Amino acid sequence: MMNEKNIALIGFMGAGKTVVSDLLAQRLGRRRRAIDDLIIEADGRQIGDIFSQSGEPYFRELESRVIAEVVQDKGLVIDCGGGVVLKEENVRRLKNGGLIVYLKADPDVIYERVKDQTHRPLLNVGDPKKKITELMSVREGIYEKAADRCVVTDGKTPEEIVEEIAGFLGMA
Ligand code: S3P
Repeated sequence: MMNEKNIALIGFMGAGKTVVSDLLAQRLGRRRRAIDDLIIEADGRQIGDIFSQSGEPYFRELESRVIAEVVQDKGLVIDCGGGVVLKEENVRRLKNGGLIVYLKADPDVIYERVKDQTHRPLLNVGDPKKKITELMSVREGIYEKAADRCVVTDGKTPEEIVEEIAGFLGMA
């Protein structure tokens, strides 16, 4: 039943997954799980420290383990980190009994949103704008392919995005 399916939000850093997942969970009366928060809880360190002290491959392993655990539950809204789609097994698990929604955002909009934030190790670089473009060119096709539905977020409020998602879930 659609009501029981997990709804996983994917998309680039700064696309609005956290805010939208929070509002969507409220709107649908569902519980929300954020993969990054569960990683921090499991490991005991912040994301930046995990990356700098243990490296990205370690982080990705932990991320996959957390996803495998979370999808045991049903009826959730899942806020996925921007890189979860990099492993096919993660996408497979999220899709199995779940719906994947891609929040698509323009690289310039993303840059404006993330430029004053420091908690994303992949963007703490000399030229974050260039990095966004590079990562996006690698990932865009992967997001599109993984997604069951895509919502273009540019110029929309989080509330409008939530209504759009609720709409195609048949709950508007
Ligand atoms: C990452 C995205 C981050 C976090 C980590 C890596 C990525 O999550 O998981 O910094 O590879 O895109 P957000 O998309 O919530 O910022």
